[in-house]
Amino acid sequence: MTRTPFGTAPGGQGVELITLTNAHGVELRAMTYGAIIISLKVPDRTGKLGDVVLGYDSLAGYVKSSPYFGAVVGRYANRIAKGEFTLDGTAYSLAINNGPNALHGGLKGFDKVVWQAESLPSPDGTGVRFHYVSTDGEEGYPGTLDATVTYTLTDSNEVRISYEATTDKPTPVNLTQHSYFNLAGRGDVLEHILQINADRIVPVDSTLIPTGQLMPVKGTPFDFTTPHAVGERIDAADQQITFGKGYDHTFVLTRADTGLVLAAVLKDPTSGRVLEVRTTEPGVQFYTGNFLDGTLTGKGGVVYQRRTGLCLEAHHFPDSPNQPQFPNTILRPGETYRSRTVWKFGVE
Ligand code: GLA
Repeated sequence: MTRTPFGTAPGGQGVELITLTNAHGVELRAMTYGAIIISLKVPDRTGKLGDVVLGYDSLAGYVKSSPYFGAVVGRYANRIAKGEFTLDGTAYSLAINNGPNALHGGLKGFDKVVWQAESLPSPDGTGVRFHYVSTDGEEGYPGTLDATVTYTLTDSNEVRISYEATTDKPTPVNLTQHSYFNLAGRGDVLEHILQINADRIVPVDSTLIPTGQLMPVKGTPFDFTTPHAVGERIDAADQQITFGKGYDHTFVLTRADTGLVLAAVLKDPTSGRVLEVRTTEPGVQFYTGNFLDGTLTGKGGVVYQRRTGLCLEAHHFPDSPNQPQFPNTILRPGETYRSRTVWKFGVE
């Protein structure tokens, strides 16, 4: 692992750039601002390395305007209805930053804070651990939340992401990694082939808040139980597609236990690159970059048009603090929040 200065955050804190490399030349660069993965270079079928995530060349781009490119999202990834929830009889209010709802941890979520980095070598590879202590009441959330996120790059071309958190008051926690993948390293992702291990999704209303039901995918554009091109049904006449402006939904992973389960397999037929996502989380948000609109210019001067990247955000269901039937997202004092996600890169 190497670390170099990478500029100064708006609050005046220095930001560092961390570089991890493995035996095959795979390289992951991340920075302490937002624990953001800035670039991830993996081989194509000819062995040529290419960057498979969207982002900016410098800190300034991320500070100015970023739709969570590569960031760790918290304390609560995805939406909480009207920014309100009640926990143990106390009502809490969060900033409204997405239509009528709260999104992705607030105005200054975990994607915009400076984390402390330490090298974390392991038998499996080279790693970095980011640490951040969120104060009681930060962004409206109760409790001091002590959070760590670890990225380990292994010699089998895996990026292992693990999260841990503890609290001194009950509080909702739902952390995720918001990288936008484009396995071709250019163009849009409509020809990527995707399979998702989910026979239900969490359907939403027009503001992308769950209705509370789970919807079977069979016979819908959401059926990725067998491989389909991302673009094949993305503009189908379907109410959920209309609400999401494409795919922007939590898929309910089919699992037998709470361990790592294969969530999704993404393939780019042109480069041959393959990404397998495994996670301990109950869901994965499949988001097709529907809000990218050509107004952001990213790495190397590339203009990010609609659907030039897609996210597979492993997390709990949106709005769980208001939906008692969903898997629990409340962390209590004495407990440790633990979550793991693995991205395995290969070729075909
Ligand atoms: C998530 C949300 C999307 C969008 C992106 C960020 O994936 O579900 O609706 O807000 O984050 O632009």
